[in-house]
Amino acid sequence: MPGSLNPLATEPGQPAEGAPGHFGVTHLALIMDGNGRWATRQGLPRLAGHRAGLEAVRRLVKACIERNIAFLTLFSFSTENWTRPAEEVGELMRLLRFFVRSDLATLNRQNVRIRVIGEREGLAPDILRILNEAQDTTAANTGLTLVIAFNYGARAELVRAARHLAAEVAAGRLEPSAITEATVSAALDTSGIPDPDLLIRTSGEQRISNFLLWQSAYTELVFTPALWPDFDAAALDAALREFSQRQRRFGGI
Ligand code: IPE
Ligand code: IPE
Ligand code: MG
Repeated sequence: MPGSLNPLATEPGQPAEGAPGHFGVTHLALIMDGNGRWATRQGLPRLAGHRAGLEAVRRLVKACIERNIAFLTLFSFSTENWTRPAEEVGELMRLLRFFVRSDLATLNRQNVRIRVIGEREGLAPDILRILNEAQDTTAANTGLTLVIAFNYGARAELVRAARHLAAEVAAGRLEPSAITEATVSAALDTSGIPDPDLLIRTSGEQRISNFLLWQSAYTELVFTPALWPDFDAAALDAALREFSQRQRRFGGI
């Protein structure tokens, strides 16, 4: 089935597809939404919501490891999130730095491999350094692959891929007729990562917000009213159960 194969599934330390507990979800993608509303409802500044959201990230990573999910992609900062007030953007950058500094050793010990997707150009040098450090430190790990979508937007990703392929054609290394779905997939930031089986969005919003547009062509969508800081293992299990009841047809019968 296109995109549903985990090429790493038979390597040591990698859960086999269909392993108990994850209901056949090899790749879980998550739009972590609702931090601001969570804070506002409690009379706290939005920044408090982002801090509580980080706790939810830690919980979820642990839950995914326990459930043998092979890939977890977290939408942590979108290309459009730069339009937020400078103070909030600054806090989100600070939280990313804090997360890598405080959690990288633990993640490494948990055999988690970190991969970052999104636009690198224009990021502050210290943020770039930290993202690279997270990837390099965990590059040889064989457990959960944690894909951090940071400064990520699916349209921008598709534009980068188109430019790359156009440059290959212009250089005479690629025939336009040789461009296939596989070529495009391989030119995306998610190259080598199977398409998500399940995409969960918290906070009740029912939209994709420019996340993994190409990759989620046949992804099952689950929208949950829980605000991200309240999302826990029980909420994850409810979404996995809902996924397990879906019939995926991929255009067939
Ligand atoms: C998600 O929570 C976190 C990011 C987008 C970085 P929000 O900050 O979007 O929270 P709401 O949607 O305003 O409640
Ligand atoms: C999507 O949430 C981006 C992230 C979770 C990082 P937003 O809160 O930015 O999305 P919209 O603006 O409600 O569509
Ligand atoms: Mg939001």
